[in-house]
Amino acid sequence: MGLVSAKEMLEKARKEGYAVGQFNINNLEWTKAVLSAAEENKSPVILGVSEGAGKYMVGYNTVVAMVKGMIETLNITVPVALHLDHGSYEGALACIEAGFTSVMFDGSHYPIEENIQKTKDIVKHATERGISVEAEVGSIGGEEDGVTGTGEVADPKECKMIADLGITMLAAGIGNIHGKYPENWQGLNMAVLKEIGETTNEIPLVLHGGTGIPDVMVREAISYGVSKINVNTECQLVFAAATRKYIEEGLDLKGKGFDPRKLLKPGYDAIIKVVKEKMDLFESSFKA
Ligand code: 13P
Repeated sequence: MGLVSAKEMLEKARKEGYAVGQFNINNLEWTKAVLSAAEENKSPVILGVSEGAGKYMVGYNTVVAMVKGMIETLNITVPVALHLDHGSYEGALACIEAGFTSVMFDGSHYPIEENIQKTKDIVKHATERGISVEAEVGSIGGEEDGVTGTGEVADPKECKMIADLGITMLAAGIGNIHGKYPENWQGLNMAVLKEIGETTNEIPLVLHGGTGIPDVMVREAISYGVSKINVNTECQLVFAAATRKYIEEGLDLKGKGFDPRKLLKPGYDAIIKVVKEKMDLFESSFKA
């Protein structure tokens, strides 16, 4: 199917009551693993790229070329959106130019008036090219690739103001955190999420910090309008654990076990397993 905007897949998910996973990519193996899992599960998928990961993968043009090449050569038939995660204003414009099909402009750290102004501007540039836009109100706690949030809970009135700007999907802070959740985490603020879902005109809502949220909470969040769930840390953890096991078992020292195609295979397989499990949990499998 090639690269598409996230609009259609998310509106379908919102209407039918499931969520599409955004899985952040970090390199070639990651990208291939997420695309292969999506194809095997017949699920739509969103590839998330943070600005830091974009830089690591040698720039947005390289990422676009790699993803397009893989979709073609792996014969990926499910809808795939290539999405900038937590973009700055400049980053969002750069990704629109480079050929991303979806961008997040994270203006949550600006005063609301400035967030509105900048979001509006990004929407104008993106909509002209059929690119979907995610905006954020109320910051997501924790740290991801140098972007730190205080974990402030979103104000439903501000959510409505941003949702009305013509954006495709809205991320609202509801006590969710990037990375591992602390022992004393209070859980997602379902009352606020429900209110946001009711006041934002059926816009697909985005749940960041997908790693470590209990399954029942994920399902409840979907019932209130969450249609996109972001997962990053969990894939990193399983990749690292599988690679550690391979080396601790001395497999890199046996035969040609040091060949990167062998060394990185257990981590690659571990990512595929997690992505497929999440797709089943979010109920996006067989929805492509
Ligand atoms: P986790 O790293 O907690 O899974 O969060 C991912 C995310 O929200 C990306 O924006």
